[in-house]
Amino acid sequence: MSTLRSNSFHFVPRRDVPRAPDASCPLVSDEPARQVARPELALWLRLRDRMRLFETDTADFEPREVERVRRVSGQLYLDVSRKVAHDDFARDLRKVTGAKECLECAVRGDCAGRVVPLRDDVFTRDDARVLELLANLTGTVLDVGAGEAPYYAALAPRASRGELRYLALEPDAERARLLLRRIPSAVRLDSLQELTEVLDHALLLRSYNHLTDAGALLEQVVARLRPGGTLLLVDNEAYGVIRSAAAARAAERGPARFEHAHNAGAAEVAAQLARFPLSLLDRRDVSPHTSNQWLLHYRRDST
Ligand SMILES: C[S@@+](CC[C@H](N)C(=O)[O-])C[C@H]1O[C@@H](n2cnc3c(N)ncnc32)[C@H](O)[C@@H]1O
Ligand code: SF4
Repeated sequence: MSTLRSNSFHFVPRRDVPRAPDASCPLVSDEPARQVARPELALWLRLRDRMRLFETDTADFEPREVERVRRVSGQLYLDVSRKVAHDDFARDLRKVTGAKECLECAVRGDCAGRVVPLRDDVFTRDDARVLELLANLTGTVLDVGAGEAPYYAALAPRASRGELRYLALEPDAERARLLLRRIPSAVRLDSLQELTEVLDHALLLRSYNHLTDAGALLEQVVARLRPGGTLLLVDNEAYGVIRSAAAARAAERGPARFEHAHNAGAAEVAAQLARFPLSLLDRRDVSPHTSNQWLLHYRRDST
């Protein structure tokens, strides 16, 4: 059984270096100001009249994991909310990317580098594909780790016409209670053993990384899918958040507990599913151009 872990870490402010609004980067010619103990755990952000250094001292992620999140998957975000816990990523977080001026900087190899916020709402853009796939479903649909069924609105039109039967597998009693209050027609399952029907479609929406025994559960789900039925998995990779020290402290001391068994990406999950009778229909990997949400869509083969 895996231990539960965090899926995010914080960068917090450490110090400022003045920079007039129209001036070039002062760190280029000021080596002492530029120096940081661990450049891979640091970044600079430009404010109106200064450069602000942020660092992470996370104990939940190895330095190489932090570096991977920043340089390979490109999943750093600026907190633009006043919330302790982010519950609406599209509103609360703004993706950042490397500043253009750093690309050609002569001291680039000796500097943590600066990031700039992007305008694009990458979360809403990537979620549009999920909503599109859900809107086409009919028949018996099992939502594994349904939570409070935040995506149900995409299924509701077909359900209200009697073309879709919604089964929610949710072991958490409080979440299941809230789901049933909102969607009285949902059939709640406490465990997969209660499932007697053949499925037309199975969904794991942001639940795969919460499963302590994902392999065994997926084997049972795939076995219950009819040939031609589909399996949709959507989940999030680890990410870093640039925020104030007070907000980071409040979040770290807050009531939220770790819920993630893994921080797997599409490649890892696709490799795990390779032994099942499934054909890949669509795959969206996390990259510096996307949100931290990946997607895998399969059709069940006949054997
Ligand atoms: C992050 S929530 C996702 C909720 C919802 N699907 C969504 O898209 O927001 C993950 C859910 O997986 C559920 N879960 C955890 N372990 C599970 C298991 N073994 N089988 C089914 N669901 C599980 C949790 O109770 C939680 O509601
Ligand atoms: S890499 Fe970027 S932040 Fe660092 S000195 Fe050069 S321009 Fe400034």
